[in-house]
Amino acid sequence: MSQSRLLSCHVLYQVCHKQVHIKQALAQVLPADLSSQDKAWIQNTCYQTLRNFQQMEDRWKKFIYKPVKDQLIAILLTMSVAQKFILNKPDHAIVNEAVNVSKKLKKQWASGLVNGILKKVLNDIDYQPAEDTTLYNHPQWWIDCLKKDWPDHYLDILQANNQKPPLWLRLSDTSVTKPPGRLHPYLSLAWLCDEKTADITQHLNDGLLSVQDAAAQWAATLLQPKDNEQILDACAAPGGKTCHLLQMNPSIRLDVIEKEPERMRLIMDNLSRLDLQARRLIIGDASDPKQWHTGQAYDAILLDVPCSASGVVRRNPDIKILRQPEHLTPLTDLQQSILQTNAKILKIGGRLLYVTCSVFKVENEHQIRRFLRKNPNFKPMNFEIPDAVSCQYGQQIITGTNQQDGFYYCLLERQS
Ligand SMILES: C[S@@+](CC[C@H](N)C(=O)[O-])C[C@H]1O[C@@H](n2cnc3c(N)ncnc32)[C@H](O)[C@@H]1O
Repeated sequence: MSQSRLLSCHVLYQVCHKQVHIKQALAQVLPADLSSQDKAWIQNTCYQTLRNFQQMEDRWKKFIYKPVKDQLIAILLTMSVAQKFILNKPDHAIVNEAVNVSKKLKKQWASGLVNGILKKVLNDIDYQPAEDTTLYNHPQWWIDCLKKDWPDHYLDILQANNQKPPLWLRLSDTSVTKPPGRLHPYLSLAWLCDEKTADITQHLNDGLLSVQDAAAQWAATLLQPKDNEQILDACAAPGGKTCHLLQMNPSIRLDVIEKEPERMRLIMDNLSRLDLQARRLIIGDASDPKQWHTGQAYDAILLDVPCSASGVVRRNPDIKILRQPEHLTPLTDLQQSILQTNAKILKIGGRLLYVTCSVFKVENEHQIRRFLRKNPNFKPMNFEIPDAVSCQYGQQIITGTNQQDGFYYCLLERQS
């Protein structure tokens, strides 16, 4: 077990101090021949530590008099505290194993410190978080932004962000044999599995289903691809919405853009798994249609733009550590540029669906307001997502509603 804890420390160190995404960090650090049981243990430990990071860190920091400068030892302490208060591991194992890990890290000097601090923390059962950050396990700027944008919903969002996410599937058709679970109240192909770890590998390989949150399944549902339409999916990887569009109507001529070559490979894998065909797969920049647009206007455009991912943080808890407020302006500039440039290649009468997996208004209705000011030839179309909140423009699925991720949708029509 010390080995799994040691590996967990290295994974968390990569995320917290080298700004590596959790999935990449796991892939980099874990040996290829590690058993699936150990992999699952490490993954759960790292994800749960990240979900509760601020409070776990605060619980040990209150017992130190000068900062622990060694970053790996600090990570080891935070992760060990999560083992007590989140993962419910027994005290003796936590302390002994943490001391073993400090030795494996060749930091024997820290053994006494680790032992002493952890013993105090494990007995500190009356701990009360004193700050918003340690109470909600989010950075302060994030909490402030949610309070301002969603005064009636921010607590629900914060709470949902810290939960383990459920497993949602998109069925290839309604007759597919499904694992135990239930259907979404409004989406006929969205299936919520009872078990987060249901074994669906064979069904995935056979193309009978795909893993996709229900909130994401509104994209193709709202765009309603019609026979032979020319459609653009401008920010497409890993291809969840691409495949859904083609499954809904295989006759469409779908052009697919993705900036990252290695992510285009994911789209290709998904298309081949589901036996679907797009017209063109283009590695390119969606904000610069000159690179790839052939001159024919589209009937419909899906812009599932790169965003803060603040609506899917329960699936990617590393975002709470990695995302900084200064990342938002370059992102919103890119989103606006993708909107503005793609609006020009939509047919008159065509529809444009703007999507983010974010709950920050600056990426959502504020973007649409800014866009409409400059493009009075576009009008918002009426549509309804029954369990979403209506905004001035578009609709917001609040994270956690009906167990869904946080997604924003706005459907626009080009009128002239
Ligand atoms: C939100 S994800 C898309 C998810 C996808 N639509 C799906 O349902 O599976 C955004 C994607 O846009 C890509 N991207 C980022 N900047 C881009 C750009 N300038 N042009 C095209 N794609 C871009 C990212 O690499 C990422 O794969």
